[in-house]
Amino acid sequence: MSANDRPTGPPTATRDSAFLKACRREPVPHTPVWFMRQAGRSLPEYRKAREGTGMLESCMRPDLVTEITLQPVRRHRVDAAIYFSDIVVPLKAIGVDLDIKPGVGPVVERPIRSRADLDRLRPLEPADVAYVAEAVGMLTGELGGTPLIGFAGAPFTLASYLVEGGPSKNHEHTKALMYGDPQLWADLLDRLAEITAAFLRVQIEAGASAVQLFDSWAGALRPRDYRESVLPASAKVFDAVAEYGVPRIHFGVGTGELLGLMATAGADVVGADWRVPLDEAARRIGPGHAVQGNLDPAVLFAPREAVEEQAAQVLEAARDVHGHIFNLGHGVLPDTDPDALTRLVAYVHEATGR
Ligand code: CP3
Repeated sequence: MSANDRPTGPPTATRDSAFLKACRREPVPHTPVWFMRQAGRSLPEYRKAREGTGMLESCMRPDLVTEITLQPVRRHRVDAAIYFSDIVVPLKAIGVDLDIKPGVGPVVERPIRSRADLDRLRPLEPADVAYVAEAVGMLTGELGGTPLIGFAGAPFTLASYLVEGGPSKNHEHTKALMYGDPQLWADLLDRLAEITAAFLRVQIEAGASAVQLFDSWAGALRPRDYRESVLPASAKVFDAVAEYGVPRIHFGVGTGELLGLMATAGADVVGADWRVPLDEAARRIGPGHAVQGNLDPAVLFAPREAVEEQAAQVLEAARDVHGHIFNLGHGVLPDTDPDALTRLVAYVHEATGR
């Protein structure tokens, strides 16, 4: 698509939505709510739609992607949809031999640990993910005024899966590469930044009205390592999509010590997990950013009154934050009662409605 064909931005109803207003730090009619991993295993209709279809195969079917993305919007009345996919989809699309194993996560057949391995990571062309553009187009038609959030994995989190060969608690091979061969590491992250940027561009050009960069595992790093070895690649991604003017969200787990640095990477909105109170998170993030978060997802297993008490504490901590987007501190846990999520959305809307 040439610059002239680019959509001129979302329709007015979407642009004026509480979610996009909060991202821009404008006054809102109520605090907007969405949940990371809102589309997924907590919903019986999701399990039914996915029956007999593998995770990666589902991500390549625009009809399934559209249905699954819409499910939580219909059920919970959340203020934004998140595109149903996975952070490893662009890697699969360029031919990395990976699969998503149920209950495990992404598994890579041949991990990337040498210069020769790196050569296997070719650039992502829009044609590699034509089904993504198709599904985003279908979705924006169906969603009306509800914004669609596109997303991608950040270079460090993608690198962790590629270097470890699967999910990892300690990221030992990843860190061995980062400390042991800084040049190869920098080249790997730079290549991943280009792939990620290309993947986000496809989603934005097809109509996504915000994007989130998931650096889920960045919290495993010291600030100095994050700043020197990771931040430049994430900043490159944010920079590459700045021209579109859609809000960019940045999130990771256990990133209390990194929030200030993450804010400098270029996002408009920074997400925090539940370990840092939201007012303290906002202080660390610094002025000029909206803040997203941060109810502990495990709280949803408590009785309704306790959930509302904990949600009220998040809202109280967010009182002086200009631009608060209510979310969980990480994704919805698979065994969460969907009704607890629906009630939480209604609670936040009522408690903050003006
Ligand atoms: O948020 C949404 O509702 C949109 C869908 C979404 C998925 N993955 C679907 C999915 C999003 C935004 C992601 C991002 C993702 N994927 C991240 C970043 C967010 C985070 O949780 O920190 C990460 C680290 C991954 C990698 C990944 N993929 C993991 C850890 C898993 C879970 C493994 C498991 O089964 O416990 C997956 C698989 C996955 N991605 C599922 C879904 C719905 C489960 C697949 C299934 O239903 O079997």
